[in-house]
Amino acid sequence: MNLKFTEEQEMMRTMVRDFAQNEVAKEVERMETEDRFPIEVIKKMGELGLMGIPIDEKYGGSGMDFTSYIIAIHELSKVSASVGVILSVHTSVGTNPILYFGTEEQKQKYIPKLASGEYIGAFALTEPSAGSDAASLRTTAKRDGDDYILNGSKMFITNGGVAQTYIVFARTSEEERSRGISAFIVEKDTPGLIIGKKERKMGLHGSNTVELSFDNCRVSKEQLLGEEGEGFKIAMSNLDRGRVGIAAQALGIAEASLEHAIAYAKEREQFGKPIAHQQGLSFKLADMATQVEAAKLLTYQAAELVGKGLPAGKQASMAKMYSTKTAVKTAIEAVQVFGGYGYTEDYPVERFFRDAKVTEIYEGTNEIQRLVIGKHLLK
Ligand code: CAA
Repeated sequence: MNLKFTEEQEMMRTMVRDFAQNEVAKEVERMETEDRFPIEVIKKMGELGLMGIPIDEKYGGSGMDFTSYIIAIHELSKVSASVGVILSVHTSVGTNPILYFGTEEQKQKYIPKLASGEYIGAFALTEPSAGSDAASLRTTAKRDGDDYILNGSKMFITNGGVAQTYIVFARTSEEERSRGISAFIVEKDTPGLIIGKKERKMGLHGSNTVELSFDNCRVSKEQLLGEEGEGFKIAMSNLDRGRVGIAAQALGIAEASLEHAIAYAKEREQFGKPIAHQQGLSFKLADMATQVEAAKLLTYQAAELVGKGLPAGKQASMAKMYSTKTAVKTAIEAVQVFGGYGYTEDYPVERFFRDAKVTEIYEGTNEIQRLVIGKHLLK
């Protein structure tokens, strides 16, 4: 694996880094204290083409490669992991299912709006009693003439309270588990789609997470995405790509934790010298840096495979599992380096610590990633 980026990819990194420093950083405090969705930031990202980075120009996207998109999530997440996940969910699982499985008409209707940031996308798979076991979902979509009627509830929907389109998974037949599931594009104002409780979370403040329910929510058959019964495969194949985005988000948290820890260790003096010169501390930084580097290699390797259209499920799960574990470990160690100050809100490391944990949970827990990797190994 050669971590050499093209000129175009380096330009993306510089542009997003500047944007994160100049436009995102100043919103972090408000996201933390008010738990407010950073709509102005997202609109500006739309203007810069960041809401549709890997989307073909013919559908209004930026037409850049998947690695450039991963670079954007990585750089944004160094400043705000909330903005990182908003972008990742919007693109990987909010927009891409339409790009990969939609009819030409569906693509023309939705993708330009999603790629420009006029619309925000969400993905509604998880239910109160169907998390890791996604195939056990119970939301139903019953055919009624030219329509389907959706009933059921969804849980932990990222971007759910601010989205204009939802990719919704529902059972269209009594066929066993995954085979009876279909996917639908549901628009926000569809009668019967009810936005429920907004979750109060440990971290990722500013990222909007809600419950959804469907009460006789009628959608036309034109909203079916792919074929009837194809929904589970649509969910899984898009999660394969989506998990690389979460790996990049976690990589951003891990790298930011390391950079803040190094800067502080060089500046903070105890026992007459900077704590960085205590061997115990430098060993800690060495471990953190090695893990960040390994996470980077795994993440960009998976991104390259996705970009080339090669099978990437195993590498995406490896990247997601390792990078998210590294984010948690590195953020905990960064708090330790900062000592008492690290436990206060005066420094960002306590936020990194709170933001990191969920990356090991969503888009498939790390136990599920091991299951996926194991299945690939034993195929
Ligand atoms: N691509 C295409 N098809 C796939 C696939 C993939 N990656 N993985 C499985 N399939 C197909 C299988 O081939 C199989 O097809 P057939 O029936 O034709 O043989 C079918 O799907 C069922 O596969 P499995 O028997 O392997 O399914 P399973 O019930 O054992 O579940 C699982 C597999 C990996 C555990 C899956 O349920 C899973 O990934 N669970 C985690 C769910 C998850 O990631 N949720 C994330 C929610 S979104 C989110 O978190 C976003 C956010 O907010 C940040």
